[in-house]
Amino acid sequence: MNELSPSAAPAAARLRRAPPLLRVENLVKHFGVGTDLRGRPTHTVKAVDGVSFDVAPGEILGLVGESGSGKSTTGRLVLRLENPTEGSIQFEGQEITRLKGSNLTAVRKKLQVVFQDPYSSLNPRMRVGESVGEPLRVHGMVRGKNEQRDRVAALFQRVGLDPRFMDRFPHQFSGGQRQRIGIARAIALGPKMIVADEPITALDVSIQAQIINLFLDLQEEMGMSYLFIAHDLGMVRYLCHRVAVMLRGRIVEMGPTASVFANPQHGYTRALISAAPIPDPDREAARQRQPFDPNTAPPPEARLTEVEQGHYALV
Ligand SMILES: Nc1ncnc2c1ncn2[C@@H]1O[C@H](COP(=O)(O)OP(=O)(O)O)[C@@H](O)[C@H]1O
Ligand SMILES: [Mg+2]
Repeated sequence: MNELSPSAAPAAARLRRAPPLLRVENLVKHFGVGTDLRGRPTHTVKAVDGVSFDVAPGEILGLVGESGSGKSTTGRLVLRLENPTEGSIQFEGQEITRLKGSNLTAVRKKLQVVFQDPYSSLNPRMRVGESVGEPLRVHGMVRGKNEQRDRVAALFQRVGLDPRFMDRFPHQFSGGQRQRIGIARAIALGPKMIVADEPITALDVSIQAQIINLFLDLQEEMGMSYLFIAHDLGMVRYLCHRVAVMLRGRIVEMGPTASVFANPQHGYTRALISAAPIPDPDREAARQRQPFDPNTAPPPEARLTEVEQGHYALV
């Protein structure tokens, strides 16, 4: 297994001087759930409840929080797989919140996704080489079958897969290999940004670091940004320049990774950090978990306030 690269956190400040690639302002998504006798929803789930952040070119922003905190919905809104109830999403300075049709297709070329479960995101009846080549064909980036195969073979090689496996089906691969296929598909069009929604959670622990290293290598080589959704804080610490902590649809803390880990302000952030195992045995033995009841919703009037340079917490 490869060693994980050291955290790139010190680079955060330098990256952030560029105009943002992605800017999300006051994003809200409410889902109506249940149905009354007239077929109307009986109540509302505030999945995302006023979230703002931006991502610089080449920056890796981690979005963490436990299950149900609104991370995937935030990612799906950014990808425009879901329409927001309120708020604005700008990509490369362009308002994309209400884009449709060919304008949205053009943005999708630059904004790709890697899902948690590579098996359900790949068509089980399609040869994997076809799945990886599909975006190239759909966006008219290749002329003919041969060129498509050549491009797919190069992508396979780039993500550490033998191009001879192109004609196999998803079930013939391991979980880690399938995630490599998902990544190959995501980078096929040379995106500016990838939203990765818990891309290693479903994988064996023994191969998680390899996939994280692949993400890092690709980032370095292609210079894209990631919105990296995770609940494993250990990985976030290695991978992300900055981290945003979500609780019940809101960001409760956000800042450079090193700063948030060294000086967590919000009780929920402290609880998440204290719940993560430490690789050093002595410190791990001394680790004490700090309780936090995730049902404690942040008070509606609370605002993100800067506590250190670029480090904000909800107070
Ligand atoms: N399509 C949907 N309809 C109704 N509720 C939803 C839908 N998608 C997500 N939710 C709810 O929104 C909240 C946030 O979900 P999600 O964004 O998936 O959180 P996370 O990814 O952090 O686990 C949860 O309470 C979830 O049940
Ligand atoms: Mg999720």
